Amino acid sequence: MDKNLVVRGGRNVLGSLRVPGDKSISHRYAMLAAMAKGRSRFDNFAPGADCASTLRCVEDLGCTVERGADGSVSIEGLGPELSAPSRALDCGNSGSTMRMLSGILAAQPFACELVGDASLSRRPMKRIMDPLSLMGAQIRSEDGHAPLRIQGARLSGVEYRPPVASAQVKTCLLFAGLLANGATTIDEPHPTRDHGELALRAFGAEVQRSRNSVTITGRQTLHPIEAYVPGDSSSAAFFLCAAAIFPESNLVIDGVLLNPTRSALLDVLTAMGCRISMLRVEEQHGELVGAVALVAGKGKHVRVAGAQTALLIDELPVLAAIAPFTAGGVEVSDAAELRVKESDRLSAVTRNLQAMGAQVEQTDDGWRIPGNQQLHGAEVESYHDHRIAMAFAIAALRAEGETVIRNADCVAISYPAFFEDLDRVTER
Ligand code: S3P
Repeated sequence: MDKNLVVRGGRNVLGSLRVPGDKSISHRYAMLAAMAKGRSRFDNFAPGADCASTLRCVEDLGCTVERGADGSVSIEGLGPELSAPSRALDCGNSGSTMRMLSGILAAQPFACELVGDASLSRRPMKRIMDPLSLMGAQIRSEDGHAPLRIQGARLSGVEYRPPVASAQVKTCLLFAGLLANGATTIDEPHPTRDHGELALRAFGAEVQRSRNSVTITGRQTLHPIEAYVPGDSSSAAFFLCAAAIFPESNLVIDGVLLNPTRSALLDVLTAMGCRISMLRVEEQHGELVGAVALVAGKGKHVRVAGAQTALLIDELPVLAAIAPFTAGGVEVSDAAELRVKESDRLSAVTRNLQAMGAQVEQTDDGWRIPGNQQLHGAEVESYHDHRIAMAFAIAALRAEGETVIRNADCVAISYPAFFEDLDRVTER
């Protein structure tokens, strides 16, 4: 694919599609499979570069990984004790890989190093280092950033309240807690996605939960599983948002994850006037999966704040990118975390919207974006951030003229076939 991609305006979004397997679940399944002695197999494993980073690390830690031509992945797990890697573990662009794997590595009987690309090396790691250190971990960093050097140690359980709501931090501590002596409790400021808890249970561990808190007792044995990874709801979000801004649209996304901690966007789109139905809903290893059908409509102004912001964190760039085309506009607050994602997503969205002629007010922790605006095509930056590239491909569908997305190949981080799939459901 060309690094820069031209997206032309569209007339409508129509049809049905499936999106690739969920990235959050794939990371967790791969890491837990490494610690479950025997062979696990996953169908529809996330095809992007991020989960490939996790698989490469799992291989470097001594597990045999086989990728099938059908998108399946099999992992031969070693049990709780992994093998010392012979090189630095390369997490690429993946914050999930670095943060969640650190919880496992902190308890291993060896030393290792975790490295990442330029973007990952700028992202905050203190959020996992602080609580892991309370558990007895020995981690050195470059002032709270990668590379991380972890000397494995015996860990003890801890009760911890993270200062920011982060599912990566929660999962890191649950994984460390699984290998620690005693119980580990994480008490979250706001509920975050619960795939760590559900995946641990799927692999046979007991996890106790109440609304904002979760406890795991250490030294439990995992067993391998076979699972189908549901379609990624954060990937589905781009298409749902595209359909939401065309009055005649009609879109069905099949086999998609409907976990309530990942489907807050459906509530927002409903408030925007869309009619949404869920079909064929079933449960697989604790995760809800089904089809989502969306027909656009005209609704009111939408405000996203507090707990809802935490649940929508990966969908906010595309929600902001379509905001100018909505009837009532969108206001987002409590989203300062967006500054420390793969790019500074708060500024990235503001700059790209402005380049397309939008009126947008950026605040300390969000945006105010009026509705009913007309945008024009422009040259926009992906900032090498997959979700920014995809968000502006959606905005481009309703802009006048052509939009050039610079370095659009970064979509391969989570969704290598994104542009082909978008073309299939866009009428021009
Ligand atoms: C993720 C959690 C979120 C999200 C990221 C994936 C996960 O990050 O932005 O894309 O799989 O747990 P934080 O937990 O740091 O908010």
